[in-house]
Amino acid sequence: MKILVVGGGGREHAIIMKLAESKRTEKLYCTPGNGGISRYAECFDVAATDIDGVVALAKKLAVDMVVVAPDDPLVLGMVDALNAEGFMTFGPDKAAAIIEGSKVFSKDLMKKYGIPTAKYEIFSDSESAIAYLKSENSYPAVIKADGLALGKGVIIAQNEEEAIAAVKSMIDGKQFGESSSTVVIEEFLTGPEVSVLSFTDGNVVVPMISSMDHKRALDGDKGLNTGGMGTIAPNPFYTEAVAKECMENIFLPTIKAMKAEGRTFKGCLYFGLMVTPKGVKVIEYNCRFGDPETQVVLPLLDTDLVDIFEAVYNGKLADIDIKWKNECCSCVVMASGGYPQSYPKGLEMQGMDDNGQVDGVFVYHAGTKYADGKFLTNGGRVLGVTATGETLQAALDKSYAAVKKISFENAHYRTDIGQRALSANK
Ligand code: AMP
Ligand code: GLY
Repeated sequence: MKILVVGGGGREHAIIMKLAESKRTEKLYCTPGNGGISRYAECFDVAATDIDGVVALAKKLAVDMVVVAPDDPLVLGMVDALNAEGFMTFGPDKAAAIIEGSKVFSKDLMKKYGIPTAKYEIFSDSESAIAYLKSENSYPAVIKADGLALGKGVIIAQNEEEAIAAVKSMIDGKQFGESSSTVVIEEFLTGPEVSVLSFTDGNVVVPMISSMDHKRALDGDKGLNTGGMGTIAPNPFYTEAVAKECMENIFLPTIKAMKAEGRTFKGCLYFGLMVTPKGVKVIEYNCRFGDPETQVVLPLLDTDLVDIFEAVYNGKLADIDIKWKNECCSCVVMASGGYPQSYPKGLEMQGMDDNGQVDGVFVYHAGTKYADGKFLTNGGRVLGVTATGETLQAALDKSYAAVKKISFENAHYRTDIGQRALSANK
């Protein structure tokens, strides 16, 4: 098969590498791709959000399958446009992608179908939002922009002053444009977080190996929220009992609810979960593979990913037995100094080798460019240095050994990826 992957980060690099393992893959294309991806897939400069451009590219290349990986083209309806032209696609259509595209939609869905989540209220004017904050008087309070906001639309306000400032800048200041003209204010939950990506064809849902993200920029979960500074899999807080509870109370009810709403979800549905003292609750849904969760989940997959994508598209996921390796995986993100705020681009990188110069390591590229025989930084998150091992400690040792061999000016990474998971095992 000739396969086109839409997107250009570490997640897409991980998808490409898994597709490359399939006997069914004849040729891989990616748009826009990045420096690392360009060594395995022919890259194009059509933006991931350019629906007409991607449809035209898929036609020109006469591909057999298109995988749409990022949230924005899915929410904008790229899959609908590709399906209308007869392409086999992996990813939800616009009607289903709303599960990530609107937090108001997803919160109301959970309320309607009794799926456990944080208590919440919805506001489109700051006065009522502030009155609610004052009447609840409970901090921290969580304030979320309704729509997509590059992973930055969630504010955890420690006190009334911070909460009011967040509400005003989102609703009145249009901090995230239309995405924040409506906000969700919700109860603050505590407990370890678990990410579960799943394959679903709308009828059956098959959870992948669980993982844990590290969202804050600095060690000890300090600093600003980022897209994710590192991941490990499996997540030790996702025990068999938790998995059973999730399947019964969250995964199956969500798939059924979407179908009942006439929004059958086909693709990868990401469950962001918190294991609270009162049971597992949904923090968020994403309509796509997580980044950098995918970088630790797909290396552990033993089943042919092309077969899975095809089965999801054809509604035949029940016919496939999906198998996983009995290993652990870790991904340490190397970011540009300054990320998630402003940072320079175009810095030359040293020590670059896909295998990280360490056995069992693979370096996924997130924000890089390849020019004149050199790799240059080209984004906030630059690399995801990933290793598998028999134990989590063994995987982490390899990831960090490779991180130390790679350098660029002001490179920043967390030194404590996986520590919380390791302490859970003790
Ligand atoms: P989201 O973009 O919805 O994943 O939120 C980003 C991060 O904010 C999550 O990964 C959590 O760490 C945190 N968060 C979101 N909602 C809550 C909540 N209700 N209680 C506590 N933390 C939350
Ligand atoms: N790593 C979190 C996400 O992909 O949304």
